[in-house]
Formats: sequence, structure tokens, C-alpha cells
Amino acid sequence: MKIKTPLFIVFEGIDGAGKSTQANLLFTFCRAIAPAVLLQEPTDSQHGKLLRKMLKGEIPGTRDELLELFIKDRAYDVEHNILPLLNKGYVVIVDRYFYSTAAYQAGNGNTPSDILRMNIEKGFPVPERVYFIDIEPANALERIHRRSGDNKEIFETLHALETIRGNYLSIADSTFAVIQGNPGVEDIFKEVLKDFKKHFVTG
Ligand code: TYD
Repeated sequence: MKIKTPLFIVFEGIDGAGKSTQANLLFTFCRAIAPAVLLQEPTDSQHGKLLRKMLKGEIPGTRDELLELFIKDRAYDVEHNILPLLNKGYVVIVDRYFYSTAAYQAGNGNTPSDILRMNIEKGFPVPERVYFIDIEPANALERIHRRSGDNKEIFETLHALETIRGNYLSIADSTFAVIQGNPGVEDIFKEVLKDFKKHFVTG
């Protein structure tokens, strides 16, 4: 088996969709056959650390401040991690990327596609495939509640998740593979892997 390299793959979904589990499973699959890395945004840069505090509501952040910080954090990630690793021939899997910014920071006059364009104009590389793990917001909220009790982040309400899901679907183009996220972990991964093998694996 051979994976096409370098390769840039992104996982997206609303909070509680299970995308991080799926990103991990694909990373484990890839790592056995090719140099591979799993990254996450927000990163652990100074911007990313500030963002995590804002997301928990520990410090305030307006929608526009969040938008600006996510873009700065991504510029850091692209320069220090994503591009150097792609240049070395890695399979780079990122758990959340600019589609998250488009879906979560839309508003205040910016549509999801405006934000997408803003990111692309910055020169951030476009991934070859986006696995969008799609789940009903009500199910997602139930999972979040089970996982973190009352320690919810600022976007974790039913209304916010419904808006965010709609925003994602409004920007889903042909790089998106929309994967049903309601079945169990293994069945979801079968779908991800089927698509991944079809596009990027030979032999
Ligand atoms: P993450 O750590 O991936 O949370 P989870 O594993 O629960 O999905 O992401 C943290 C939060 O950051 C999540 O609510 C989405 C938000 N986010 C944005 O609002 N904009 C962005 O550009 C990114 C990357 C994340």
C-alpha cells in the first residue's frame, strides 16, 4: 500500500461531532505506511493559548478579536508546521482549519465565504480533502454534556451549533467529504477510510 505524499487533509465538524477521534484513527492508519503528523488548531502558540482562554469564557473576546486571533494563529501554524512538513513529504492531518473560522466566526457583516476568501488570500494552503463529520446539533450537545459536564465552551449551545453547522454546509465544495457522524466510531471510520483509499492510496 502506498499513500500519495505530500498530502494535506483536514477534519472539520461542530463541537461534539467526533472529528478528533476520526482524525486520530486516520493518523494511525497513515503513520504505519508513510511519514505522517497530526496537528490541531488552535495551536499552542501564544495566540492559540489566548484563544483557548477566550473560548472557555475566562477572558472576554469579541467576534472580531477571535477572527483576528484565529488567523494569526493559523499564520503561525502554516509557517512553522504545515508548510515545512508538506515540503518534507509528510501526510499532514489537521484537526480544524480555516473552515472552522468560516463556520464559527461568521457574523458582523462577514459571511462564511467572505472568511474563507480572507484565509485563502493570506496564502494559506488549501487541503486536498476535508472530512466533515456531520452530526445533529442535539446529539452533539448530548455528547458534549456527557464529556465535560457543565464546563462548556462559548459555542456549545444548541442555537450556536445549528448556525455553525449551516455555515459549514454553505461552504462545502468538492473538497468536502460529508461523513454521517451519528453511527458508531468504527462505522464512521469505515466511511472515512473508504474515501481516503479511493483518492490517496494505491496498491
Ligand atoms: P477544539 O479544541 O477542536 O474543540 P473540540 O475538540 O471540542 O471540537 O476547538 C475548540 C473550539 O475552537 C471549538 O469550539 C471551535 C473553535 N474554533 C473557532 O471558533 N474558530 C477556529 O478557527 C478554530 C480553529 C476553532
